[in-house]
Amino acid sequence: MSGTPATGLLWVPKASVIAKEAGARLRQFFAEGVETEYKGDVDIVTVADRTVEKLVRGRLAEAFPGHGVYGEEGTRERMEGEFRWYVDPLDGTTNFAHGFPQFCVSLGLEHRPEGLVPGKDGKLVAGVIYDPMRDELFTTEKGSGAWLNGKQIRVSRTSQLAESLVATGFPSRKRHDNPNIHFYQEFTLRSHGVRRAGSAALDLAYVAAGRLEAFWEFKLNPWDTAAGVLLVQEAGGRVTDFSGAPFQLNSNETLVSNSLIHDEMVSLFSNMFAGRDLAPIPTAHEFAERRAARAEVAE
Ligand code: IPD
Ligand code: CA
Ligand code: CA
Repeated sequence: MSGTPATGLLWVPKASVIAKEAGARLRQFFAEGVETEYKGDVDIVTVADRTVEKLVRGRLAEAFPGHGVYGEEGTRERMEGEFRWYVDPLDGTTNFAHGFPQFCVSLGLEHRPEGLVPGKDGKLVAGVIYDPMRDELFTTEKGSGAWLNGKQIRVSRTSQLAESLVATGFPSRKRHDNPNIHFYQEFTLRSHGVRRAGSAALDLAYVAAGRLEAFWEFKLNPWDTAAGVLLVQEAGGRVTDFSGAPFQLNSNETLVSNSLIHDEMVSLFSNMFAGRDLAPIPTAHEFAERRAARAEVAE
């Protein structure tokens, strides 16, 4: 899985230095421990999220004057610019706050040529995702492939959902309005398993690296997906919404895969949305009744 390292890159070299500095800061906060605050429901934020966004915002302005920055913790700078960085300073805050070492910093660059209709997506042109606990740096620029610590990565060759390891995530707001637990159940019953590791950007990077065959989630934001979506595409994967239509940065649905199991997943989504083809499992109550009946027979 290696190739000649990409040369002539325009943004990745500087963005990688920034992501690594941000990651080092996250590692320090993680070692020291941080207090958590609630943004709402179970949506957590820490001093690490805010400090690292400020650091990244400043470094991006030095490295790429004129580029816009759109960050999860509120940064909206130079939004009229032709290039825009989507910044998640800490993807996996809940993990981070609990001392669970699965989180990253994610920087995705969008090109928005002059005349682009407001609200329309430009083109994703670069992405950097850094996992500071494993020292793994995932990088890509459009047309140059996807890379992990300088080695080229590709999506997996597994061609059936039944032989796949897939991943998902759940929103931290309005949890009772979201049906994803039903998809979690169904995909669990039809695959090698569904991971819910708590960092969407790393989930996307793992699909690009062939560690997962697919990932889906409702209601992600551009700072979660911009870098990872380009990584998956450049690694040979496919990115759409749940019905197979083109992915959009502000879309409420993200489905990425190694391409080979994509149609099978889209068809399962379609069947589930239509209320068809669900694998029956007992409710907890039904199970308890059977258990009680078995206990009676055994007496
Ligand atoms: C969250 C993580 C999580 C996903 C949530 C995201 P945050 O980002 O990516 O895996 O399930 O939807 O909001 O809040 O830790 O940056
Ligand atoms: Ca995030
Ligand atoms: Ca975040």
